[in-house]
Amino acid sequence: MERQAVLSVKGLKKSMGRKEILHGIDMECFGGEVFGFLGPNGAGKTTTIKIAVGLLSLETGEVKICGHDIAKDFEEAMACVGGIVENPEMYKYMTGRDNLKQYARMRGITDPSVIDEAVAAVKLTNRIDEKVSKYSLGMRQRLGVAQALMHKPRLLILDEPTNGLDPQGIKELRDILKHLAHENGACVVVSSHLMSEMELMCDRIGIIAKGSMIGTYSMNEIKNRSAGDLEEHILEVSDPVAAAAVCGLSPDRVTIGEGVLTVRLEKDGGKAPVARLNRTLIENGIDLYSVRPKETQSLEDVFIELTEEEKGDGQIE
Ligand SMILES: Nc1ncnc2c1ncn2[C@@H]1O[C@H](COP(=O)(O)OP(=O)(O)OP(=O)(O)O)[C@@H](O)[C@H]1O
Ligand SMILES: [Mg+2]
Repeated sequence: MERQAVLSVKGLKKSMGRKEILHGIDMECFGGEVFGFLGPNGAGKTTTIKIAVGLLSLETGEVKICGHDIAKDFEEAMACVGGIVENPEMYKYMTGRDNLKQYARMRGITDPSVIDEAVAAVKLTNRIDEKVSKYSLGMRQRLGVAQALMHKPRLLILDEPTNGLDPQGIKELRDILKHLAHENGACVVVSSHLMSEMELMCDRIGIIAKGSMIGTYSMNEIKNRSAGDLEEHILEVSDPVAAAAVCGLSPDRVTIGEGVLTVRLEKDGGKAPVARLNRTLIENGIDLYSVRPKETQSLEDVFIELTEEEKGDGQIE
């Protein structure tokens, strides 16, 4: 049976004034995955997300959340979504817990354990009874995520959630979001303009530029887009010059470095060529300390390549 998408967007268009901003966005995101919605500034990420969470009206196209069409079953659809778009409103003079209580009252959530569970999920339990005015930015972000989690949504949508966080905060948030998707089965959608960040957080990414979807890729597909038919491997060896001489590869396939030999091997050969090389080196008395594949094109490069055509001269329109 085909899995039902938790978030399904089809042919979504949106105009602001006379300008069409979204030109027919299609995407599907599933439970159990962190989906990265990636695109340059002004691409249309926030606009798409705002429509999906009900903050902007839907004009043309279809958005379904857990099978509920937001144009027809708005309430049911929204009951499945937790989101943070722009900074969630928090009362600074109140404690984190009182903010969540207030929100629970607004949403008609009566079970008090919900707050503790949401706070535990974002690891804010120790500080939840302090005033929000004393929170750091990262703590406020966590409180925002806790709030978005309180009604146990199957879809969590966060617009640029790591904005302003330090590396430690980014890692912690990443771990929390991965846990929610991979362990709890939630569908987590995060937007960003940074490929490097998406690489660490997401299972799949959808790339948007200038209001159009360029494609949806698994993280592996993106990585494999680099380098054509050859795959580079970096061999850490005791004697790179001797290794180059005995490896049996033509000179254009090897690069001698300091303590390392970089070799370019056929991608479709699988693991066998590496094993063969390893044996040859050992037979020739050369020690091999490590082998690692080299990412010949950074993910950032792939992202720029994919979005460049759409972006034109790089000007934000
Ligand atoms: N209220 C508005 N009125 C007119 N144009 C708007 C409005 N909101 C957004 N836009 C335009 O829509 C386009 C997409 O904006 P959006 O905020 O969705 O981009 P984004 O992908 O979230 O970018 P960023 O990475 O900078 O957050 C931009 O050209 C923007 O100027
Ligand atoms: Mg945005």
